Amino acid sequence: MPCRHCLAEPERNASSAPGRKGHGDRLDGQRLQRMVRTDRIALPLKMMDASRKSSAEKPRIALGADHAGFRAKENIKKYLQSAGYAVSDAGTWSEESVDYPDFAIKVARRVQQGQDDLGILVCGTGIGMAMAANKIGGVRAAVAHDALTARMSREHNDANVLAMGARVLNEHQIIEVAESFLSAQFAGGRHQRRIDKISELDQEPKPRG
Ligand code: RB5
Repeated sequence: MPCRHCLAEPERNASSAPGRKGHGDRLDGQRLQRMVRTDRIALPLKMMDASRKSSAEKPRIALGADHAGFRAKENIKKYLQSAGYAVSDAGTWSEESVDYPDFAIKVARRVQQGQDDLGILVCGTGIGMAMAANKIGGVRAAVAHDALTARMSREHNDANVLAMGARVLNEHQIIEVAESFLSAQFAGGRHQRRIDKISELDQEPKPRG
């Protein structure tokens, strides 16, 4: 069966990781570019509308990863640049072991200070990245492992940072989840009142000690 995200046939003898990753083949940069050029990524209608926006209308994206998320971050960067997004890459730059909070904080600060509109973080699971990013005032980081939770994190929770796990999702799923996040809009209304209650917590004095 062709992959429903990129229409590519699965490779013979491709190794499969356990859990949701499943898809064994890696997306190299050239292949990603080719898929974008030839529209081979099958995007839902809403995402296609988002990809038609001009660069000026698209949110600026801050990207960050640790060693576990490095390859995925490189793929996301190539994909987003091909799709016309302005991307700032906060590292890391290799698969050498690093500490994920260092990159989560860089990306979260860029979003906090309005240098970028949204952030995307990748580590092994997304969990540590989200924990660290959520310590930065004004940042609402959500871990999403599928397109639905990524979209809902924007529509209901006004998430401004997406955290994903490169040991949980394969390359295709990571692109799909990122696109779902980027093409969704905050729904406002009753959700705004709830977000305001979260934002109020940024004003609480830090406990001593
Ligand atoms: C690194 O091994 C791993 O702990 C990190 O990538 C992440 O999964 C933490 O949440």
